[in-house]
Amino acid sequence: MQRDLNSEVVTLFKRHFGHAPPHVARAPGRLELLGNHTDYNQGLVLALAVDKFVYFAASPRSDGWIEIASSAFPEREKFATLKLERNPAAPWADYVKGVLNELRKRGVPFGGFNAAIHGTVPMGAGMSSSAAIEVATALTMRRLRPYSLTTTGLGTPPQPDRGGNLPPLTPQEKLEMAKLCQSAENSFVAVQCGLLDQISSLFGKAHHAIEIDFQSLAVEPVPMLGEIAIVVCNTGVKHSLVGGEYNELRAHCESAAKALGVKTLRAVDGRMLAANRGRLSDCEYACASHVVGEIRRAVYGARALRDGDFEQFGQFMFQSHESSRDNFKNSTPALDLLVELARAHPACLGARLTGGGFGGATINLLRRAGVEDFRRHIAAQYRERSGRETEPMLCQTVDGAQ
Ligand code: GLA
Repeated sequence: MQRDLNSEVVTLFKRHFGHAPPHVARAPGRLELLGNHTDYNQGLVLALAVDKFVYFAASPRSDGWIEIASSAFPEREKFATLKLERNPAAPWADYVKGVLNELRKRGVPFGGFNAAIHGTVPMGAGMSSSAAIEVATALTMRRLRPYSLTTTGLGTPPQPDRGGNLPPLTPQEKLEMAKLCQSAENSFVAVQCGLLDQISSLFGKAHHAIEIDFQSLAVEPVPMLGEIAIVVCNTGVKHSLVGGEYNELRAHCESAAKALGVKTLRAVDGRMLAANRGRLSDCEYACASHVVGEIRRAVYGARALRDGDFEQFGQFMFQSHESSRDNFKNSTPALDLLVELARAHPACLGARLTGGGFGGATINLLRRAGVEDFRRHIAAQYRERSGRETEPMLCQTVDGAQ
């Protein structure tokens, strides 16, 4: 049976605050289909927004306090609007505070509010629950006090219609909102993530992948039609980008670009890399090889998708995983096992780790007819080989947050 997350978040809100919330916003999680760690190297990524959401219900309050409840944590987090500080006892609320902090920096006014957060984006599974919380926060704040972000600052706030509905965000507003949410994560949570997660949550499109060029920030929908399905297999080993490995990998990519005399690895191709091997440390060379290969695969992958050539696309996914495992070293034995098990199944066209790595989940491109058998096969084999449980999740592409 389909869950009604809207009613669930309203119930949660009522339980905590005793009345119905006037505003509910939601943002989807995302899957990185191809193009691993290419976003902050100004490369290309193919991504999907999927039907796992974070819901954010809110109502204003007038005493200058903010109080947030979450269905995933027992304690509410309460803080003054003027005191936005990280709380190690409630790290989940840092994503909300980080967004508020960025809004304040840009001169967007906000007052106190009560909020309840609830959703189905698994945490630590590489599906960007953090970006979904950030985007849902930014959208909720827009509903509480309309604002419009522009490249240079703030535009004229949008006016609600008679029914109280705001006009949809323009693509430029979406992009600025994505950047604001990324800054929240960079400066407040101290993860130097790229823009992939926030752009995907805002620009995703049902029945499509989105092709994002992180140099021009152009976003193009690419149809994903055919007898295929996307299934996510969670290793059950949580990844946390706050752990520091992510920032380290980013630093290796940046130092490789510097040693090669270019702004970012986007400017590098395989030949240039091989010719300049001596200028790089082993680690820089391996990281750069991964990124250069991933950008190339994303370019050709987009072409394969447009041609409906899913077999070719799947091969790029396998190659991407091998490069993560051997060059970038952001895979883990559990992720490698899931890819190996997937590859052995006849319905599997491609499989790879998705997102930051170091745990989390794999994304699998399947022939639709074999989905149920694939899910059983992976669950049983993963249990047998690792002693851990996984419940492969069928994911549908959805439109981005609005
Ligand atoms: C995480 C980051 C993204 C991106 C991916 C890897 O999800 O938040 O910006 O770098 O890892 O592609």
